[in-house]
Amino acid sequence: MAYLKNVAIVGATGSVGRFIVRELLAAGKHEVTAVTRTVSNAVMPDGVKVAKVDYDVQSTLVDALRGKDVLVVTMAPFAPSDTQLKLVEAAAEAGVPYVIPNGWGFDPNHPAADDAFMGPAQRAVIKRIEELGKSSWINFVSGFWYEFSLVGTSDRFGFDLQNRSVIFYDDGMARINTSTWDQTGRAVAKLLALKEKPDNADDDSTTLSSFKNKNVYFSSFYVTQKDMFQSVLRATGTKEEDWKITYEPSDERYKVAVDLMHQGNPIGFVRALYARGFYPEGSGNGSAGFEPTHGLQNDVLGLPKEDFDERTKVAVEKSEGFIRTY
Ligand SMILES: NC(=O)c1ccc[n+]([C@@H]2O[C@H](COP(=O)([O-])OP(=O)(O)OC[C@H]3O[C@@H](n4cnc5c(N)ncnc54)[C@H](OP(=O)(O)O)[C@@H]3O)[C@@H](O)[C@H]2O)c1
Repeated sequence: MAYLKNVAIVGATGSVGRFIVRELLAAGKHEVTAVTRTVSNAVMPDGVKVAKVDYDVQSTLVDALRGKDVLVVTMAPFAPSDTQLKLVEAAAEAGVPYVIPNGWGFDPNHPAADDAFMGPAQRAVIKRIEELGKSSWINFVSGFWYEFSLVGTSDRFGFDLQNRSVIFYDDGMARINTSTWDQTGRAVAKLLALKEKPDNADDDSTTLSSFKNKNVYFSSFYVTQKDMFQSVLRATGTKEEDWKITYEPSDERYKVAVDLMHQGNPIGFVRALYARGFYPEGSGNGSAGFEPTHGLQNDVLGLPKEDFDERTKVAVEKSEGFIRTY
């Protein structure tokens, strides 16, 4: 196959999945099949085929994935933990050569991913794909989602736009990588548009197979909370003195949040995740800024440079579109 034509995607109407589907359809190169639960009420966009599955009946997953070149998983983070394992096992049985697993955030091998309670589950999926030996994985590392994390709740990037307050982790100067949903959609579509293998030994063009069993690091912005704050001030036409500003040590905020989580409060998870992501650079643990250590594949994939203030403005003006309860 020259490139991966038959794409199966889980979460075709989900937060990030719908942007991936939009870009895949725009590329016009793929047949896109939404793998969706029989119990789902999702209404799929035109041009997308539908394969209904029941995660308790493995054969429905295998049938849905037969003949597909790649499975892209964008599954709700709180889906039962074995759901993704069932999918990758079905992908192996159906002979799907590539799997892009759930992730869309941290590098699963970074200590922050373990501290944020996500690394072990992500690595278990990758390990299972490797054990089964039928599919290769390609994992997308995007950092936190930009607009989503900026609006909605101060437990993410620290901003409460409605009440004009911001909590800075430490001094607010830890730089992190963060990505828009648009850029994530483009990153996946650009990767899947690559030809799979080199034409011959002299062909040094970028191929999809060169990403086998690797992370793809990409991002929209590499910024601090203070950068975001300046951008928010420009977007809202407000001044610093209009805002209530507080500072909290990221490690203290992380520890208190973990205690909350252990008491069964779901806010604890979100608060811990973001506080951990903003640990100071050079602290030995690093922050959610992966660009200095891994570089980015933005240029290799041909991703555009986005306008930071423009995206902040979109987030502020259309904040309801990005709000979710977790
Ligand atoms: N980087 C970040 O800042 C960030 C933030 C949030 C999430 N994430 C990550 O992004 C990934 C996708 O999250 P998302 O917010 O896009 O997901 P989502 O919109 O909440 O859900 C995606 C899809 O999952 C399916 N689903 C829902 N409940 C399910 C269940 N119980 N069992 C099986 N499937 C179920 C649904 O598809 P159907 O209805 O079609 O079956 C749904 O459309 C997750 O790995 C999450 O950790 C990253």
